[in-house]
Amino acid sequence: MSISRRSLIKNSAIAAVLLGIKNSAIAKAVERTGIKDFYKDDFRIGTALSTSTLMKNNEALLALVAREFNAITPENCMKWEALKPKDKEWDWTAADKFVEFGQKNNMYIVGHNLVWHSQVPEDVFKNEKGGAISKENLTLKMQNHITNLVSRYKGKIHAWDVVNEAVEDDGSWRKSPWHNIMGENFIAQAFHIANDVDSKAHLIYNDYNTESPAKRNFIVDMVKRFKKQGVPIHGVGMQEHLSIDGPGVAEIEATLIALAGAGVRAHITELDVDVLPSVWNLPTAEVSTRFEYTPERDPYIKGLPKNTEEKLAKRYEEIFKVYLKHHDKIERVTLWGTADSETWLNDFPIRGRTNYPLLFDRKLAPKPAYFRLLDLKK
Ligand code: G3I
Repeated sequence: MSISRRSLIKNSAIAAVLLGIKNSAIAKAVERTGIKDFYKDDFRIGTALSTSTLMKNNEALLALVAREFNAITPENCMKWEALKPKDKEWDWTAADKFVEFGQKNNMYIVGHNLVWHSQVPEDVFKNEKGGAISKENLTLKMQNHITNLVSRYKGKIHAWDVVNEAVEDDGSWRKSPWHNIMGENFIAQAFHIANDVDSKAHLIYNDYNTESPAKRNFIVDMVKRFKKQGVPIHGVGMQEHLSIDGPGVAEIEATLIALAGAGVRAHITELDVDVLPSVWNLPTAEVSTRFEYTPERDPYIKGLPKNTEEKLAKRYEEIFKVYLKHHDKIERVTLWGTADSETWLNDFPIRGRTNYPLLFDRKLAPKPAYFRLLDLKK
């Protein structure tokens, strides 16, 4: 990497002074170039934008995102329930702001998501009388939803998470309403519909725990089948909601290799590293799971101990070493948020904890893990 960190820090520090930026968090942020620049020859580095950041126009956070990242995903504002709430008209306010921000900053814009079992109003799966909807009518609703959404942002959104989380951890189909009513074919249909509307968009199947062998094998088989059948699938999203203790990077590497072998690009779509005590055996991103709050399950309210901070930095380092080794297979690495204050992991699977899974702290300052990732590129 030709960029010298020291000269960048010096030049940007001068810029900060010239701009008269007093807020120390913002000033610190402009003291550096973005991590995206350090990785520009390897893959894009992205983040997720929350609805509140967009709607409240959180200037400090948006400035940091623009500086650090070159890809964005909407954390919630493009989900079915958010865009087309039950019995209400389409609400494009936040989604439009999201796309505008990405375009203004020349970013790779990801749409999240078209078809998911979660965050979709229950009435989608009912007929007008409140009874069971037919397969044909649910197919029409899906078609209508995808067509409205993809055509609105045609040519602006580069990649879509077309189907989210259709596979169980044990390597079987998730018995979601989509699956139960339309059968497993709902996945291929969603990809065809999206491709018919925007044939240039990059279409992704997105899931968590893709490192686990049973799930990995099932998804890879599905992709190979789709490729044979001419289903327009171009990428697989490995969400990568990881823990500080696992899974091992060998499993991440195995998934990257298997996906490339199946002929699709890997997208790291939702990376974060949970540092809090685990309340289950396997990490999961299944949003319906909840546990009781107890103080011993929330040990870092006053800050992360030095040794845990160091462990987190090392964990990020080992994960990125694998990504770098396989950079030719990876389209982008997107973190699921920018600063620890906004992470979903403060409220999952227990509400109201203090977690530290991202690269920037609660004051928007870069953490040791961030610098460790820059060091990998020096
Ligand atoms: O919008 C309401 C708000 O009006 C209300 O005051 C507040 C009270 O709790 O809830 C708000 O909605 C929350 C929403 O996030 C926005 O903050 C929902 O309760 C909460 O369930 C929702 O959680 C999101 C979750 O997906 C479910 O949609 C998380 O922010 C988001 O990070 C998470 O992201 C998912 C990916 O889309 C798919 N992969 C797994 C990943 C993590 O679960």
